[in-house]
Amino acid sequence: MTPAARISACIEILDRIQQGQPAEQVLTRWARGNRYAGSRDRAAIRDLVFDVLRKRRSCAAIGGGDSGRALMIGLLRQQGRDPEELFTGARHAPPPLSQAEKIARGAGGVARPVRLDYPDWLDDALAASLADDLEPVMECLRHRAPVFARVNWRKATLDTAITALAEDGIAGVSHPLARSALEIVENARAVGRSRAYRDGMIELQDAASQAVVEFLDIPQDGRILDYCAGGGGKSLAMAALTEAEILAHDAAPRRMHDLPLRAARAGVRIATVSDPARAGDYGLVLVDAPCSGSGAWRRSPAGKWALTAERLAELVDLQARILDEAAPLVAPGGVLAYVTCSILRVENQTQIAAFVGRNSGFELVRERQFTPLDGGDGLFVAICKRI
Ligand SMILES: C[S@@+](CC[C@H](N)C(=O)[O-])C[C@H]1O[C@@H](n2cnc3c(N)ncnc32)[C@H](O)[C@@H]1O
Repeated sequence: MTPAARISACIEILDRIQQGQPAEQVLTRWARGNRYAGSRDRAAIRDLVFDVLRKRRSCAAIGGGDSGRALMIGLLRQQGRDPEELFTGARHAPPPLSQAEKIARGAGGVARPVRLDYPDWLDDALAASLADDLEPVMECLRHRAPVFARVNWRKATLDTAITALAEDGIAGVSHPLARSALEIVENARAVGRSRAYRDGMIELQDAASQAVVEFLDIPQDGRILDYCAGGGGKSLAMAALTEAEILAHDAAPRRMHDLPLRAARAGVRIATVSDPARAGDYGLVLVDAPCSGSGAWRRSPAGKWALTAERLAELVDLQARILDEAAPLVAPGGVLAYVTCSILRVENQTQIAAFVGRNSGFELVRERQFTPLDGGDGLFVAICKRI
């Protein structure tokens, strides 16, 4: 496909997303219906579509509307490219720009939430959460996330993982955020097919998610519960660091479907449980709670536009309920660790202060907010000890 034909495809895809269809679904359907598009075309189209979704408001402001066409014009202008060079009307290219579309609008002078691409209603919450870091953090979330792998200590060291990846033409370099983190700086799309991945030497995992696990004091024996295990990324990261028994639980057990396979590949044992209280109490209970996902908006930009004040309030209530459900599972002297991939105080520091306020049997030992300025996603972690 020519670059202009790719732009036409993006316009079609963005129009469907703007009608409310999920981005992944639209991209998959488009690929099925347009078999002539090769893997490079599909990857390039996907990248452009996600670039727009991260910058939807500013693209609309600069492109003069929120149709797929206007958004693409806005993106090209933001990239310093002249849309008229691609909107030529030639075969497969989008029709030429109208007089109205030719009027270039800058993002200068527009309100901060437009310029930095987030909903107006979040401005106060972001300011209260990020203070002077608001602008750089939100700017970071307008751009693609780096790709990180976690070195699985059970099967590799940083050096052996880097060497194995290099055999498949993939370049990984260590990253200061976590001891186990490798930033994949070349050929990231090939990681899932690489020997290092197939043999369980590495897993794909954000560097801050790895740092959060390294922040925990993981017991070396007894039992650990991953109460909101989901796909099990944190269970696997913990399993690389301890001989303790790890049990994974989730309110939606099908989310843990791939966990046995991933654990086998990693060479670790993780049991899934439906009734964690039956197994007794735990030296560490990890609550990686459902949240706004605001720290990971560069990976899942649709979440940025879907979040509402009502949904955020529901999430805060749900997090509090999950913390209260999980607390009795912690053994005396044990630890409740609370994690979100949020940059909002209301889900993080405020949530955990309220938890220790109503649970006098727990004290906050330490907490840390990671933001994208640290290199990975925005994650929060708090360690509460059962007294
Ligand atoms: C942020 S995700 C977990 C991600 C996972 N720990 C990882 O590292 O890949 C939150 C998970 O909490 C689960 N969840 C929601 N409500 C829950 C509840 N009341 N009890 C336990 N899990 C719950 C969701 O199904 C979801 O899988």
